[in-house]
Amino acid sequence: MKEHCFTPPKSQIESVLHKINKPTYVLEEAKLKYNLEILDYVQKNSGAKILLALKGFAFWSSFDLVSKYLKGITASGIYEARLGFEEFRKYNQDAEIAVFSPAFSKDEIMELLPIANHIIFNSFNQLEMFQPILLDTNIDIGIRVNPLYSEVTPAIYNPCISGSRLGVIPSEFQKRLDMLDLISGIHFHTHCEQNSDALFRTMEHFKKYFGDYISRMKWVNFGGGHHITRDDYDVGLLIKIINDFKSEFSGIDVYLEPGEAIGWQCGSLVGEVRDIISNKYNIAITNISAAAHMPDCLEMPYTPQIRGAKITNLDSNISTTSYRLGSPSCLAGDVIGDYEFDRELNIGDKIIIEDMIHYTIVKNNTFNGIPLPALAILRENGDLDIVREFGYDDYKNRNG
Ligand SMILES: Cc1ncc(COP(=O)(O)O)c(C=O)c1O
Repeated sequence: MKEHCFTPPKSQIESVLHKINKPTYVLEEAKLKYNLEILDYVQKNSGAKILLALKGFAFWSSFDLVSKYLKGITASGIYEARLGFEEFRKYNQDAEIAVFSPAFSKDEIMELLPIANHIIFNSFNQLEMFQPILLDTNIDIGIRVNPLYSEVTPAIYNPCISGSRLGVIPSEFQKRLDMLDLISGIHFHTHCEQNSDALFRTMEHFKKYFGDYISRMKWVNFGGGHHITRDDYDVGLLIKIINDFKSEFSGIDVYLEPGEAIGWQCGSLVGEVRDIISNKYNIAITNISAAAHMPDCLEMPYTPQIRGAKITNLDSNISTTSYRLGSPSCLAGDVIGDYEFDRELNIGDKIIIEDMIHYTIVKNNTFNGIPLPALAILRENGDLDIVREFGYDDYKNRNG
């Protein structure tokens, strides 16, 4: 299944816990490197180019390392594109910058001119509006399509849900075949945390609707949502799908643009217990807020893993070591989860919330004026570098 022989490194975070005295996202360099090696294995064995989706992982202090492996970044708009230009391309002059937005403004397109390699439109209207501006540039134009097939749940993450605004549907595509000479790439994004079997099934739908036009393109972008670095991900099947596609459509370049797979399981959020109270259950109030620091826990929703504890159901399992972990905000539902710990908790105990590097830092907020966690990198040699700290000004500046 895995095909490659890379071994996930052990977490070293416990050795530096004594140095962490406030909420901190800690990226473990060795774990990031492990993910990058798997992704590079896919690149080398399939010829696909993998772009980092900044929406899922924008921890740019690590881009010296990421840029050694990945071919560039993909951006959702001008800020991400600028970040890729400033902090990724500085390590790799050939790094590619792809940009997709459901609707660009003219100002954004103008700003993207010196930055982007691929601009991917969500409609033929947008293509028609901005193509004249791109005519004499080296920027490749792409169009995002909707192959009317996605296995993603819940619906909020499914780009092919009925009535979706994301991507041109086949019937609309058919109406604008005269414009295909203006584009050099087709993009689809239909996955979220999926294994390669979902891509295998998706390819049938993609080819059914758009297969006749692929040979007119330079590249096809299979989007993100490929959970390539997850333990049970079938890397061999992914490589085969890409190689088969490239044999069927000779000369075509294939791009993948995962975000989550880059930061997957490569660090944690460290917090601590501030108080322990009792109301039906033991309730540990921490300095970590799901709403402010891990919004996907409430949005998706899911309960994160905590080191030294198991997720439990307090209605059927109450013990001296079981706790509901809550946040310091006013929101009643701002609960991290219910856990059975391997020990009794005390005020001041550190908690390590696992896998908190992707989609957390990019989405966090200062709800209730709760401070933003610091950002740290735990180097392979065991050194802990605090790369960014946030304070009152970060809260104040975005509120008035
Ligand atoms: C167009 C596009 N590309 C890439 C991604 C990255 O997806 P993931 O982080 O799940 O790999 C997303 C995520 O929503 C996306 O919308």
